[in-house]
Amino acid sequence: MDRFTAHHSRSSAQRAMNRCRELSETPYSDIPDGLFRPFLGPAHTITSERVTSWMQDAGLSVRRDAIGTLIGRYEGTQPDAPALLIGSHIDSVRNGGAFDGMLGVLLAIECVSALHSNNQHLPYAIEIAAFGDEEGSRFPQSMLGSRMLSGKSVGSVAEIQDQDGVTLQEALKGVGLDIAYLESARRSPHEFLGYLELHIEQGPILDKEGLSVAAVEAIVGIRRFHVILKGEAGHAGTVPMEMRRDALAAASEIVLGIEAYANQSEGQLRATVGKSEAFPGAINIIPGRVAFTVELRSADHSGLDCSVLNVTSLIEAICAKRNISATIFDRQDFEPALCDTRLTTLLEDCIETAGHPRKRLVSGAGHDAMMMCDWIPTTMLFIRSPGGISHHPAETVELKDVAAAFDVMMTFVSSLDARRVRPEGEMQ
Ligand code: GLV
Ligand code: MN
Ligand code: MN
Repeated sequence: MDRFTAHHSRSSAQRAMNRCRELSETPYSDIPDGLFRPFLGPAHTITSERVTSWMQDAGLSVRRDAIGTLIGRYEGTQPDAPALLIGSHIDSVRNGGAFDGMLGVLLAIECVSALHSNNQHLPYAIEIAAFGDEEGSRFPQSMLGSRMLSGKSVGSVAEIQDQDGVTLQEALKGVGLDIAYLESARRSPHEFLGYLELHIEQGPILDKEGLSVAAVEAIVGIRRFHVILKGEAGHAGTVPMEMRRDALAAASEIVLGIEAYANQSEGQLRATVGKSEAFPGAINIIPGRVAFTVELRSADHSGLDCSVLNVTSLIEAICAKRNISATIFDRQDFEPALCDTRLTTLLEDCIETAGHPRKRLVSGAGHDAMMMCDWIPTTMLFIRSPGGISHHPAETVELKDVAAAFDVMMTFVSSLDARRVRPEGEMQ
């Protein structure tokens, strides 16, 4: 395929960026100031409709699977050939940025739109997946869309609840989906040639090195769990200090303990207590109960399991000392994922062909690609995040970097040689 002109790349990149910005405000956000688009909420529904219409304009036929993932398909010239799957997510964290996830979906649509406007079809179909639940911002489970699609077990999720007590089953029903059909979201790996996800880096490395894009060779593993500490509420003025069972004081010691533990790991471990709430929550009441989350990330599988044990022991020891009870629940484990060597090398070749230095990174952020790595050949393309800022309203991208990613993606989708990516024997 002829290379796209610089003008074409910039206008495709500009449109994808404009659309990301458009979708970062009401009604595409469920909060008035800033972006919050949790799974299956009103903003997710209306965003899905908008993205559907853009997919259709780009020549894709669109459907929604049983877990709410939008799937657009642009046919190839060989009807039975496995398709290239390109995806990312359209949900967001609370007070998140406009480009996390969304840019990957909208730039993939731009690629298909470019093919469509040239009336060009590749030997294989392209499917674009817009997952609705990468962030886990609503339910105590995340990546349900990519986990279902890639045939992973999700356990019994019908009754998991959001913070208002709405179950997943009810939330799906609210958008016209029936949990009874959940299994129909599963796909066969034989349907796909591979998976490509484009995403902002969300970290500072490309910015520091002055690079626009990089291929991703691996994604860190994640362990998540929730903790409830129970002490005893009481009068802030009458209960002597030595008689207290203050759950918030215990939680504070735990938070600092976890931070100190991660600091000792020499960069191997990232540990975060991202959310905590004290009850009953009044200036003159000793907190009797505290709920908080713990998240641990590392590229080292056994190191991660070991850190879960150590953090659990730390919680237990602090609680025993303070006569507080601790309950740990809703644990989620995502293993570190290795991208496909062949596909990642091909992506690096495309980076070079598009006129940029070869570069590989390990992702410290989680992505739907993690669910694909052990299922079909998978790779990711990162775009520079200015200042490394993400999960923050100031998250942004630069036009030249997005245009570079568009070039790399176009080169990649059109130069993919099906026989090289998944040789015959591997498709059995
Ligand atoms: C997703 O953005 C994550 O890394 O949690
Ligand atoms: Mn995110
Ligand atoms: Mn993301």
